[in-house]
Amino acid sequence: MKAAVIGTGYWGPNLIRNFLSLDDIDSVVACDLDEARLAKMRKAFYGLEVSGDPTEVISRKDIDIIIIATPVSTHFEIAKQSLLAGKHCFIEKPMTSSVAEAEELIDLAAKKNLTLFVDHTFIYTGAVRKMKEVVVSGRLGEIYYFDSVRVNLGLFQHDVNVIWDLAPHDLSIMGYLLDQKPRAVSAIGSCHVGNGLEDIAYLTLEFENNMIAHFHVNWLAPVKIRKTLIGGTKSMIIYDDTETSEKVKIYDKGIDVTSREGVYQTLVQYRTGDMLSPKLDQEEALSVGSRHFLDCIKNGTRPITDGEAGLDVVRILEASAVSIKDRGRLIEL
Ligand SMILES: NC(=O)c1ccc[n+]([C@@H]2O[C@H](COP(=O)([O-])OP(=O)(O)OC[C@H]3O[C@@H](n4cnc5c(N)ncnc54)[C@H](O)[C@@H]3O)[C@@H](O)[C@H]2O)c1
Repeated sequence: MKAAVIGTGYWGPNLIRNFLSLDDIDSVVACDLDEARLAKMRKAFYGLEVSGDPTEVISRKDIDIIIIATPVSTHFEIAKQSLLAGKHCFIEKPMTSSVAEAEELIDLAAKKNLTLFVDHTFIYTGAVRKMKEVVVSGRLGEIYYFDSVRVNLGLFQHDVNVIWDLAPHDLSIMGYLLDQKPRAVSAIGSCHVGNGLEDIAYLTLEFENNMIAHFHVNWLAPVKIRKTLIGGTKSMIIYDDTETSEKVKIYDKGIDVTSREGVYQTLVQYRTGDMLSPKLDQEEALSVGSRHFLDCIKNGTRPITDGEAGLDVVRILEASAVSIKDRGRLIEL
C-alpha cells in the first residue's frame, strides 16, 4: 500500500517516520501547502516524494491511505474528499470540529466500506493498555472517579482552545478505560492572550452511577504535568506520563464503609496495602497504532479508535464549548 501524509508541521513528521517503517507500506508521499515544510521533509527523509497539492494527492489512483495531520478545522473537508475518492483515512485527534462532521464521516466510511481511524495516540501506549487490563480484570472494583491534569507551557494553537487541543488525549483514555459514557458536561476556562481561545480550562463530567471525571488542561503552566488518578472501591491507579519508568502505579488503598444498623453514623475506615508498578510495553504508540490501522484495513475489522471513538470525544468537546460560553452551565450529552 501507498500512503500520503497531509500536513507536515509539528506532528506530521512522526507519522511519516512511522508509516515508512511499516512492512506493508511501499512508500509515503508528504503533502503540505507550505513549501518550506516540504523542503524540510525532503531533507529529513531521503528520497521522500512531496507535493504541494492535496487535491491532486487525494485523487491519485496509486494512493490507498490518506493520513491527516493538518489543523483541526481542515480535518473534515480533507477526510470527506479522501473517503469519496475511496481512500482509507487516518485522522489526527480531535477527529473533527463538530459532531455533525464526525457523523457524516462515519456514515461515508461505512457506505464506502473504508477504514476510518482516529489517532487517539495514548490508547496505543503500553501504560494505557496495561491500565485497561487492570480495569477489565476488576481489580479497581467499582470506579468512583477519573481525574486528570495535562498542563505545560504549551504550543498555542491558532484555531482551537486548550480543551480541543489537550483534552482529547484524556477524554479518549477515559472513554477507552471505562465502559460507561458521561451524561453531562460542565466547563469553565479563560483566555489570557487576547485571541478569545481559552488557554486554561476545567472540565467536569457526570455519569449515571455517581462516577465523576475532572480534567484540568492548561497552556500556561511552568512545568509539564501529565497525571491521571483513577479511584475505585478496591484499589486506585496513578498514571504519570512524565515518569520515565514506573508510569503506572496501582495502590491497594481505599476505604471500607460500614453502616451499622441502629447506629446513625456510617463508619469509614482506611485500608492501605501494597503498591505495584507493572512492567509496561515500551513500543512507540504511533508504531502500534499505525500497525493496528493497517491490520484493520487488511482484515476488514474496526479499529479500537474508530470513528465512533472519535465522535464520543468530539461530542464532549462540542458540549464543553457551549458550557464555557455560558459560564459552566451543565450541558446534557
Ligand atoms: N496525536 C498526537 O499526540 C498529536 C500531537 C500533536 C498534534 N496532533 C494533531 O495533529 C494535527 C496537526 O497539529 P500540528 O501541531 O502538527 O499542527 P502544525 O500547525 O504544526 O502543522 C499543520 C501543517 O498542516 C499544513 N496545512 C494546513 N492546512 C493544510 C491543507 N489544507 N492541506 C495541506 N496542508 C495543510 C500547515 O502548512 C502545517 O505545516 C492537529 O489535528 C493536532 O491536534 C496530534
